[in-house]
Amino acid sequence: MQDIPLRKIDHVRFFVGNARQSAFFYRNAFGFDPVAYAGLETKVKHEAGYVLRQGEITFVLTSPLSAAHPESRRLLTHGDGVMDIAMDVPDVRAAFNEAVKRGGTPWAAPQALEDEHGVYETASILAYGDTTYSFVNRDRYRGVFAPGYKPMDPERYQESTFHPVGLAAIDHIVGNVEEGKMNEWVEFHKTVLGFSQLMHFDDKDISTEYSALMSKVVQSGTGRIKFPINEPAQGKRKSQIEEYLNFYGGPGVQHVALITGDIVKTVRAMRANDVSFLRVPKSYYAALPDRIGAIKEDLDELAELGILVDRDDEGYMLQIFTKPVADRPTLFFEVIQRRGGKSFGKGNFKALFEAIEREQATRGTL
Ligand code: FE2
Repeated sequence: MQDIPLRKIDHVRFFVGNARQSAFFYRNAFGFDPVAYAGLETKVKHEAGYVLRQGEITFVLTSPLSAAHPESRRLLTHGDGVMDIAMDVPDVRAAFNEAVKRGGTPWAAPQALEDEHGVYETASILAYGDTTYSFVNRDRYRGVFAPGYKPMDPERYQESTFHPVGLAAIDHIVGNVEEGKMNEWVEFHKTVLGFSQLMHFDDKDISTEYSALMSKVVQSGTGRIKFPINEPAQGKRKSQIEEYLNFYGGPGVQHVALITGDIVKTVRAMRANDVSFLRVPKSYYAALPDRIGAIKEDLDELAELGILVDRDDEGYMLQIFTKPVADRPTLFFEVIQRRGGKSFGKGNFKALFEAIEREQATRGTL
């Protein structure tokens, strides 16, 4: 099937209760630079928006300014979370029409938004749960983000308190869907967006004594966009995916994986900024040399920071997961460095899921 040409992930939009405070968190803890703002001061009456950048990553944080906002119910249902994944396409109308023709559900019809900086085009279809996929094009737009947004007031943040942590790009974005729905959503990505299936893990790969999940990875034609899809599998106790579905109130984005060129430096900086990461037991590091062989990084340093390593045929990768970033045990982040390895950390699943189960136990949700 012909691909819809998806050039890259343009931005990820989070719908949050207090965008001003979330922007402070992503700036001061994750090292993002708030570059643009929309709100009452820019003549946007119904919501506030903060655009944050680091490397090629763009996050948009949106909060409603009243209960009359058409999306305000999201906050009650889901809490803070990913609302939309926007993908850059050469032709918004063509991408939207093609996706809808192939069975995608329209969410927002193609629109050309204009201001003195040019034309920004956007259209959206529904993805899993209340998550949407947007097609955007800014080839004819020269403004800071999109019409309605203005460059951040230089008085808002002090340059001296800004410390990027070296996050460079989005590696993958993972969706959690209900039990039995994974294949349906894999098919959706293949049929509607022309994705292909990269790999899959079943409950033999991804299970502990207690909980299990299944996962398949789909990617765009160019391989630049990767979306693993998880569903819960039967285990003795409640899986982390069920916990997510219960607290998020349905399917949604579980984690966003952010690439760094130097994970030791990035994680050290984020830890210094009070970002909380999952920890695996010391025994993980004792077993590591036998499992993955020689690596460039210092094992003691990886153990100190809690960074995990996995190897595949093409090289190895290093990864670490934050704890959930809100009080609901829902969205979290992964920091990942690839040294040739293309995997998603299959060899780490067991140690990782046991770490998650320990967290679940403290929440009483296991
Ligand atoms: Fe991941």
